[in-house]
Amino acid sequence: NPQINIFLSLTAFTDLFSRLPREPPLDRGFVPGLGHAVEFGKDAASFLSKMKQKHGDIFTIQVAGKFITILLDPHSYDSVLWESSSQLDFSKYARLLMDRMFDVKLPDYDPNEEKVILRSALQNKNLPSLTKAMFFNLQTLLLSDPRNLSRQWIAEGLFHLSYGIMLRAGYLTLYGNEEENYNDPSCQDKDRVHSAEVYNAFYKLDQLLMRAARSMLTAAEKKEAAGLKGHLWKLLSVKRLNSKANKSLWLESYKQHLEELGVDEDMQPRAMLMQLWATQGNAGPAVFWLLLFLLKHPAAMAAVQGELDKVIRNRGQTMKQMQGISQEMLDSTPVFDSVLNETLRLTAAPFISREVLADMQLRLADGRKFSLRKEDRLCLFPYLSPQMDSEIYEEPEKFKYDRFLNADNTEKRDFYKGGERLKYYNMPWGAGINTCIGKFHAVNIILATCNIYIMPLASALYKYRLRPFVNSVSTPQ
Ligand code: HEM
Repeated sequence: NPQINIFLSLTAFTDLFSRLPREPPLDRGFVPGLGHAVEFGKDAASFLSKMKQKHGDIFTIQVAGKFITILLDPHSYDSVLWESSSQLDFSKYARLLMDRMFDVKLPDYDPNEEKVILRSALQNKNLPSLTKAMFFNLQTLLLSDPRNLSRQWIAEGLFHLSYGIMLRAGYLTLYGNEEENYNDPSCQDKDRVHSAEVYNAFYKLDQLLMRAARSMLTAAEKKEAAGLKGHLWKLLSVKRLNSKANKSLWLESYKQHLEELGVDEDMQPRAMLMQLWATQGNAGPAVFWLLLFLLKHPAAMAAVQGELDKVIRNRGQTMKQMQGISQEMLDSTPVFDSVLNETLRLTAAPFISREVLADMQLRLADGRKFSLRKEDRLCLFPYLSPQMDSEIYEEPEKFKYDRFLNADNTEKRDFYKGGERLKYYNMPWGAGINTCIGKFHAVNIILATCNIYIMPLASALYKYRLRPFVNSVSTPQ
């Protein structure tokens, strides 16, 4: 089309003037105005992988009106992660996403400060009470459900089973129970019904959120998302949360933080929904993938079962006593940890994004320097490198359960690229200021939930007849 050709040559011409010396290679795509928006939105990992083959480990792409520089050299990640926020800012884009996805606007929002306040509620001395609550809630959902006690088979896909159980138990653990006594059958009934209502609405919303983040929802989808959010805001209203029993310290701290910021009663449930997504959006899909890999790799399943037998059963504990599981026991499962690391290496694909606030130079580990333009965005995408990098991992597309184990059963941490040892070799939990603050709790509850699944799976006589199949499950974001 001659018109497009003229447009392309004109834009290329103007580029010659606006580009800075030594910028990363620029790939605008062929669709005027949209650039690579469609391919990027459809499957970012395979699109960026093609761009990596074409341009190497740093390049700039045009996505709709934005220029995004992608850096894929893990040796150089520190130069982005620790750069001053006056040059590379992470809160501006976070605020934009909060608004686009959850209709949240917080006055004086500072993600750094928020993380400091919330981190301690999910770590160290607060872990045992969270683990214990998670066990009670898993028991309510899995072991005390009258549906499960009947002799009827229940057919459920592995994804919904994993995501549903993790989200519902995780939600009850952080946001509290309908009544104080977990073991009271009427409280358990109410918790099952309420948490299922939250999960059902949240799951439908979750399907729309990634495209909402890119402003790509159709009018009908926008309406659907608005309806689902309205429903969830009611379930998470100030009045409803105030009436809960067994609320976690995390919830109390977050509520107090919102009140100190002067956030009103209409905005608070919106922020609570955003936190539901941040705290519960990843663990369920991770459990799904982990169980799927175990079911497909019998040697891995046997190794994990052998380890769990040693750690838990040999200490004479039964499932019902496991609320008392100690952190020391949870920390002595190197095989399971390797399986989890390998699962996340293959499936977790977070972006780490920064807005470039002023024209600047980015210096890579090998000494190369690149100019970055003000108002462009800079992204790390650790999924392609280190996680799927064939220079670091042999047959990176394959699941190898002992990839993160040394011969003496300790955790393997030595990985190399270009002959140099890597600081960042697997980044499902993010890095720097973008590190997951719930990581330790997440590892505990994934282990706890897998125990409840895996042990019954071992005897193959549980209520669930697991039949692995994959449908269009997106990788955890
Ligand atoms: C396998 C499970 C999980 C994975 C892979 C994961 C991964 C991540 C990543 C990559 C981030 C960084 C986001 C960023 O700042 O750019 C993050 C943030 C966070 N995670 Fe996790 N996470 C998991 C489970 C959990 C759990 C179970 C909790 C809490 C109970 C949790 C709580 C949070 C919170 C509160 C944030 C901060 C969100 C914010 O910046 O506002 N995560 N997580």
